[in-house]
Amino acid sequence: KPPIIVSDLAERMGLKSFQLLADLIKLQVFVAPHQAIEPEIAVQICEQHGFTFEREQRVKGGGVHKQEEVVAEPEAPDEEPEDELKLRPPIITIMGHVDHGKTTLLDRIRDSRITAGEAGGITQHVGAYKVEHEGKPVTFIDTPGHAIFSAMRARGADITDIVVLVVAANDGLMPQTLEAIEHAKHSGKTIIVAINKCDLESANTMHVKTQLAEQGLQTTDFGGDTECLEISALKGDGVDDLLELLALQAEVLELKANPKGNARASIIEARFQQGRGAVASVIVESGTLKVGKPFICGPFAGKVKALINDRGESVKSATPGTPVEVIGFEELPRVGDALVEMDSDRAAKKLAEERQGELRSERLKIPQKSRMEDLIAHA
Ligand code: GTP
Ligand code: MG
Repeated sequence: KPPIIVSDLAERMGLKSFQLLADLIKLQVFVAPHQAIEPEIAVQICEQHGFTFEREQRVKGGGVHKQEEVVAEPEAPDEEPEDELKLRPPIITIMGHVDHGKTTLLDRIRDSRITAGEAGGITQHVGAYKVEHEGKPVTFIDTPGHAIFSAMRARGADITDIVVLVVAANDGLMPQTLEAIEHAKHSGKTIIVAINKCDLESANTMHVKTQLAEQGLQTTDFGGDTECLEISALKGDGVDDLLELLALQAEVLELKANPKGNARASIIEARFQQGRGAVASVIVESGTLKVGKPFICGPFAGKVKALINDRGESVKSATPGTPVEVIGFEELPRVGDALVEMDSDRAAKKLAEERQGELRSERLKIPQKSRMEDLIAHA
């Protein structure tokens, strides 16, 4: 068998000879780069650098292989054991045209559910919050506009269970209303219509219902099956009925999740905050998210440093359906990305590396393609 020469071994591992010499000295082996070492020593040295040593007959220095530690991509749990499943709060997204009263409605819901003493704590902007209706929790996504919805859908991460479509009674269906209907229909969501601003003189609910029917959303009083309520977010009329209806719908849907096992959450908002770094609002989908747990999110590893609930309080854990702010990201995550708990920091880092590698090779391909397209376009 050929001798194992230090410089050859170093080269095979992509290292400099002196780096191995330092390790060898620690093992009480004093050699020069051109000298040979014993196979047992080579095995130890390789291991220290994450390689496995394999003696080959023909090759000088022996064959070394990078230790392939494959970290499996975490998969969304599709079949949870039935007895582990627990009811979870429904996730409701409020949509509608600009100025039709989405934020006012959300504020109203919050006001009526949270006592004055707690209200001071609701300064934190979490993008989502959980309220209780007759002892049953309901989670609302407080991010207006379609950007978030589109982003989530684009990544197949739409976590909305029910869409509440807000339509101003004095304005009727507008472009963003139609867009919202399109989105909701496409993703097969239950739509509940809240005809808002019914306190106004100019309110014309009949007109709105006719317009809805034209879009294939025939309301129940028109013989269809779209639930529709007439409300005034400003005055609070009908808001309790809406909550009641949402709770009922949620019961029908029997929304369940497994609070055990590795946590999985969806990013609904992310931003940089001074002193805290990247902060993301997430909604837990399954498992229980806990402080101290390592995770992967997109191509980055992270570790839950702190969790802050929708009242601005620091909490230790968050169960399915709960909105919570997460601190502990390496980089700003994207809306719609999945945060998945990993078993160890090492596994999270390894998977992050793998994903980054994939992204790099994809990026290398894209510019070439677009450059080709540019050339063709300019030809
Ligand atoms: P964007 O976030 O810009 O898309 O608007 P929005 O849908 O959140 O509307 P917002 O809640 O900001 O309300 C717009 C305006 O309508 C505000 O001046 C509200 O006071 C008013 N408004 C909301 N709901 C009602 C209502 O029930 N009745 C009346 N009269 N005015 C309302
Ligand atoms: Mg708003």
